[in-house]
Amino acid sequence: MKPVLAALLVAVLTAPAAYAKADYHGLPPAGAAAKGASLVAVCAACHGSNGISVSAAYPNLAGQQYNYILKQLENFRSGARKNAIMSTMAMTIPPAKAHANLKDIAAFFSRLTPMWVHPASPAGAAPAAQQIELGRAIYDRGVAGKDIPSCAACHGLGGEGNGPMAIPVLAGQHAAYVVTQLEQFASGARHNSPGHVMHTIARAMNAAQEAAVAAYVRQLDPATTLGIGPKDLRAYAKALAASGAVDRKAAGKPTSAASGAAGAGAAAH
Ligand code: HEC
Ligand code: HEC
Repeated sequence: MKPVLAALLVAVLTAPAAYAKADYHGLPPAGAAAKGASLVAVCAACHGSNGISVSAAYPNLAGQQYNYILKQLENFRSGARKNAIMSTMAMTIPPAKAHANLKDIAAFFSRLTPMWVHPASPAGAAPAAQQIELGRAIYDRGVAGKDIPSCAACHGLGGEGNGPMAIPVLAGQHAAYVVTQLEQFASGARHNSPGHVMHTIARAMNAAQEAAVAAYVRQLDPATTLGIGPKDLRAYAKALAASGAVDRKAAGKPTSAASGAAGAGAAAH
């Protein structure tokens, strides 16, 4: 293993293990997600009712790792991560049972049909094949001699993230959002990654490398890369419904998550 990656892995692994302890090692309970569904009306304006955001400036949240969402909401509330919009939004979550509410909200978004299943964002021209290839090379193997490690080592070959380590899903995330976050990590405007790993990594990247890797992860799909996760939106939505997953009845709407998710996917095609 390259020394830079080994050092970064140690930094992440020795970060406070609170999230590993709290992980559900799989999907959080449907009951928590159902409670969360009643708390996210205000979030939908930007992040979409299906967790697919309305603009590339706002991150997709559908299928994001539970622990990662929870950590970000806590970080926005404590000021460890700052953003003009989100610092305010995170404080609107009712404070009485704040922590339980944060967990329910994280459960809700993490159980939605994941962002990579949704079709590519409508806006903007498709990236050139060459750019995707450069992105793939950086993502899978890093850049030798430039202190840029393989992103896959932490974020997963398919961009699926890592639950216990609170490492986010990147597959299907908006490219513009990914670039913004890399720039903010590099400048230090965002400084909440454990051991400042993302600061170290992003500082080593140039704009072309950031754009290429963002274009690559936007179209990354763990189902085809790794053979895991849903291959087909309708089949996945059906399986989710059968497993008693997020149910819109709990939010007062008598439509099942299955038809809701499939409908949203179909409409976006
Ligand atoms: C007015 C638009 C808006 C609303 C409403 C909003 N958000 Fe956000 N959200 C954003 C933006 C912009 C960011 C990116 C912030 C940044 O760049 O650091 C973000 C980021 C996040 C993130 C971090 C995601 C990641 O990949 O790191 C989470 C989690 C989140 N929002 C949850 C929520 C929740 C829960 C609500 C409702 C209580 C909510 N948001 C309401 C705009 C919004
Ligand atoms: C050593 C492990 C590690 C490696 C290697 C790594 N990351 Fe990360 N990355 C993390 C962690 C941990 C976070 C979550 C930080 C936090 O808690 O806010 C993160 C967060 C991110 C985010 C923010 C996502 C969001 O939703 O806001 C982006 C973008 C990102 N990484 C891109 C990359 C890219 C591109 C590479 C490869 C060049 C890479 N990462 C390599 C550990 C890693």
